[in-house]
Parts: sequence; C-alpha cells; structure tokens
Amino acid sequence: MGMVGGGPGAMIGDIHRLTAQATGKAKLVCGAFSSDHQKSQQKGKELGLDASRAYGSVEEMIEGELSLPEKERMDFLAITTPNHLHVAAAKLALQSGFHVMCDKPLSINYQEAIDLKQIVDSSNYQFGMTYTYRGYAGVLKIKELIESGKIGDIRKIKVDYTQGWLNELIENDGQKQAKWRTDPKFSGLGGTIADIGTHAFNMAEYLVGAKVAELVADVSILVEGRRIDDDANVLLRYENGVKATLSVGQACAGEQNSFNVKVYGSKGGLHWTNESPKVIAFKSQDSLEEIKIDEFDVDLTEAARLLPDGHDISFLKGFVTLYDRFLDSIQSNSKANMPDIEDGVRGMLFIEKAIESSKNNTYVKL
Ligand SMILES: NC(=O)c1ccc[n+]([C@@H]2O[C@H](COP(=O)([O-])OP(=O)(O)OC[C@H]3O[C@@H](n4cnc5c(N)ncnc54)[C@H](O)[C@@H]3O)[C@@H](O)[C@H]2O)c1
Repeated sequence: MGMVGGGPGAMIGDIHRLTAQATGKAKLVCGAFSSDHQKSQQKGKELGLDASRAYGSVEEMIEGELSLPEKERMDFLAITTPNHLHVAAAKLALQSGFHVMCDKPLSINYQEAIDLKQIVDSSNYQFGMTYTYRGYAGVLKIKELIESGKIGDIRKIKVDYTQGWLNELIENDGQKQAKWRTDPKFSGLGGTIADIGTHAFNMAEYLVGAKVAELVADVSILVEGRRIDDDANVLLRYENGVKATLSVGQACAGEQNSFNVKVYGSKGGLHWTNESPKVIAFKSQDSLEEIKIDEFDVDLTEAARLLPDGHDISFLKGFVTLYDRFLDSIQSNSKANMPDIEDGVRGMLFIEKAIESSKNNTYVKL
C-alpha cells in the first residue's frame, strides 16, 4: 500500500492505513503524506518507513516506486488528500500500473470524473472508493433484506445525514479540515452536498438498486459568511418510480454525525442509523421486529483512538470490509462488490445537478 495524503494532523489517512492493515492483506510501504517534503519525511519516520520511501509528491512517489524491482513496489495507491487532488493522483497511478483506492467525493466536478472513468475503464487495474457506509454490516444486511423481499416492492426511501461541526465559521480560525472543505478551490463545486451529500446519495441509489432520474434541490449556506453550501434538502425521483427525500447539513447544532436511513416497501419498512449501527428495525403495520447485526471481531484499538466525533468502531469496520473486498479483487483480478468509479461519477453528477436545480428553482434530469 502506498498513500497520498494522511500527513501530520490529517483526519482519514491513518484510518485508511490501519483498517487496510487490519485485513491482514496489506501493509503500508510508502507515502507522499504531505505537499511539504519535510512533513512527509516526519510522517514516514513516525511510521517506521524507509526515508527513501516518504516522498514529497505523488509524482515523485510513482517515479520512485517504478525504479524499484517490481516485487518491492507498492501494489496500490490510497488517495486521502483533499478533493482537488484525487483525479490527478488516480490518473497517474493507473497509467503507471497501480491499483487505486480513492476517498470520496471522486473529484471537484463532473467533467473530471468522466475523464477519469475513461481511464479506469480502459485500464487493467482495480479502482475502489471508500464510501464507508457501504461497508457497514448493518447496511449490507438492509440490502440483503430488501433483496430477499422482506419489505416487498420499494416505494420510498428517506436518507438524512447531519453534523453540527460547521455550525460556526471555524474555517476562519484555521481549523484544518474546515478550511479546505469550505473553499471551492479544494472542495470543488459543492461543500456539504459533496462532503456528506455524496454518502447519502450513494446510499439512496445503492439500497433502491436503481438510478435517480431527476431531482429538485434547495442547496443553501446557513452560516453567514461561508463561501460554500453547508445545507441541502433534495427530492429525488427514480427511473423506476421510487420517490426519495435526502437531507444533509453540517451546521445542524448539536449533531455529531447522524446518518439515518428509512426504506419503505409494500410490506413494511426498514430503519437504520449509524448511531446504533448494530440494529435494524423492521416495521409493518402491526409489528415491530429488531434485527440484530453481528459484526466481525478485529483489533482496531489504535485506529479507535483516531475516530472523529460521532464515529464508532463500526465506522472502522466499514473501512475494513471495503479494503478486504478491494484487496481480494486485486488478488483475483476481478471486480469487487464495493463502490467503484461509477459510484464516484454518479456522486459528482448529483452535486452538479443539485446545485443547478437549486439555482434554477426547478427539477433537473440526471
Ligand atoms: N470516507 C469517509 O468516511 C471520509 C471521512 C473523512 C474524510 N474523507 C475524505 O478524505 C479526504 C481527506 O480528508 P481529511 O479530512 O483527512 O483531510 P485532512 O485535511 O485532514 O488531510 C489531508 C491530508 O492531505 C495532505 N495533502 C494536501 N496536499 C497534498 C499534496 N499535494 N500531496 C500530498 N499530500 C497532500 C495534507 O497535508 C493532509 O495531511 C477528502 O477527500 C475527504 O472527503 C472521507
């Protein structure tokens, strides 16, 4: 495993490393952890890497790895930088013969995403995406229950994902994660609609198993002085007639990290929240059933110390599951059952169309 991003003080890079390693199938061997070579070296040293493999840029890293005998090189690149760097790093890695695991959102706009898709589609390398919620045992169980016919034909789905950490203008105080997320140069076209809206949209299409055909959105800035959206409420119409509501916000005071999913079918509904991830409620008109979820055991003690507010061990296990599937797909040279480039492209289309709809006050087609 090689990594770009994940330098000192970063949020998600260490979680990628520790959860990939928790599969027992990968080990970090190199990284371009920061745009500052010294900081990258510092991180490499902390992790016990050979100094020659803590690089100052992703370009340097690819060049350095290619100069090593094939057996010693990294096999795949994990992309954990701010959004504006995802596509360039992914292109370079794929074109140089490395598999890629990329964090979401895929890119900063839709055009970049479809350009990258062409490269992924014509390459022989695996491309996975860490839409983490897709790895939760509870979410995989909901999908299984839907496919087994538990709720009958799906009619409606509600997804809402709210956080409160951007309730004030903390980007002006230099808060690292807020600073780039609220700057279109680094975050891309969308703010909250990209950062957590893409998780919610991905969940909505995954669970229904169909594509959204059109949407109408109200994408707003709730905190005065912010440069990019921090809230969005969206109505979705699927190509198969299913209806949905999607609501996301990062300026929702009091929320840590609350992702709620309700799917309604002709025979009943399934409810799940990441705040109690090991239980799904199945409700019909005259019954309530609690479905308990078994999660696998794995030692994540070190990673657990790095969890952001409102995230628990199931979040880490979501990562472990996605990495496990991704690493198996590399071994078997076959497509993994996990989010891929298509999920990334749909996410970027969602962002662009939601913003367009909100500006024009009208439904738009996807
Ligand atoms: N899947 C999830 O649940 C999840 C959770 C958090 C973040 N993310 C995504 O992960 C990515 C990173 O988010 P974060 O919160 O960890 O950001 P962060 O700001 O905490 O960390 C980003 C890291 O990238 C490094 N970096 C910046 N420019 C670089 C360059 N040119 N070369 C090498 N490294 C560089 C920074 O130094 C920093 O170490 C984002 O795309 C974000 O959307 C996903």
